[in-house]
Amino acid sequence: MKFKEIVLTGDRPTGPLHLGHYVGSLLNRIALQDEYEQYIMIADLQALTDNADNPVKVRDNVIEVMLDYLSVGIDPLKTTIFVQSMIPEIAELTILYLNLVTVNRLQRNPTVKAEMQSKSYGESVPAGFLMYPVSQAADITIVKGTLVPVGEDQLPMIEQTNELVRSFNRTYGKDIFPETKALASKVGRLPGLDGKAKMGKSLGNAIFLSDDEQTLKKKVMSMFTDPGHLRVEDPGQVEGNMVFEYLDVFDTNKVKVAELKHQYRQGGLGDVKLKMYLFEVLNELLTPIRTKRAELAKNREAVLQILLSGTKKVRKVAMETMNQVRDVMHLNYE
Ligand code: TRP
Repeated sequence: MKFKEIVLTGDRPTGPLHLGHYVGSLLNRIALQDEYEQYIMIADLQALTDNADNPVKVRDNVIEVMLDYLSVGIDPLKTTIFVQSMIPEIAELTILYLNLVTVNRLQRNPTVKAEMQSKSYGESVPAGFLMYPVSQAADITIVKGTLVPVGEDQLPMIEQTNELVRSFNRTYGKDIFPETKALASKVGRLPGLDGKAKMGKSLGNAIFLSDDEQTLKKKVMSMFTDPGHLRVEDPGQVEGNMVFEYLDVFDTNKVKVAELKHQYRQGGLGDVKLKMYLFEVLNELLTPIRTKRAELAKNREAVLQILLSGTKKVRKVAMETMNQVRDVMHLNYE
């Protein structure tokens, strides 16, 4: 049965999706699509806020991300997938929201702050980048989204969205927009192959859903383990060892994982053998996804059509929302 909640999430199409996305959001979305009305937005305009000089990369990755969605099991019959730039109402609503938030407030957004730092923008941050949380509020509210299943780093976006919702409803005297709730994913953030806190494309420490078998093996073999574990017979450390962190997340055979941990701690289990085991676990997960992806990639035109038909559906909803907005804001000239 479908609940009344409306679920919306999105991804920036700056590269293919990786295992961090898989555990952080894709699994959630696959589960949610059976129970809720769900929208997934490919945020090409948000991607441009820090890739203005690289529109071709963004354009190419829209289809890559589509292929990832469809190959992991997001079903376009259950989930409406759409592309942000083809919903001009989102841009319109963003302009209206921008009057309800201060520059100071935007500069305090912890996620944007961290991103600005990692990109060394300093004072020369593009205005579009600084205000992308406002645009994200428009993404969510244009379909009146009430549930946003996201990782921790997106919580400030939900907060910002709700501030705008409250401010809008109060200022224009009508509850047009519902408040929205974050839905934390069951699995926490997946660390990178190198042991860094986060798996990320730009960090070069990611396993992509589209990686072939050889690439997967190479990446698993490069994973950070215990630098003090030099010989097979040495006792090794399980905590902070990426191979075990991944086994905890991906191996359903918990008894086996417990055994391996015990053996590793005692000494006598080598890194290569351990990594080969993780490779097999991940390869079993990724092989059907890879196969389906290759099949879908043969007909990119059909994949694009799926995106366009979802977008068309959202456009209708967005126009209705904007009509209500224009009404309460006295922008209804006709
Ligand atoms: N900011 C999100 C990210 O970087 C992508 C995104 C854009 C999004 N619009 C959204 C997520 C709306 C949830 C809801 O991953």
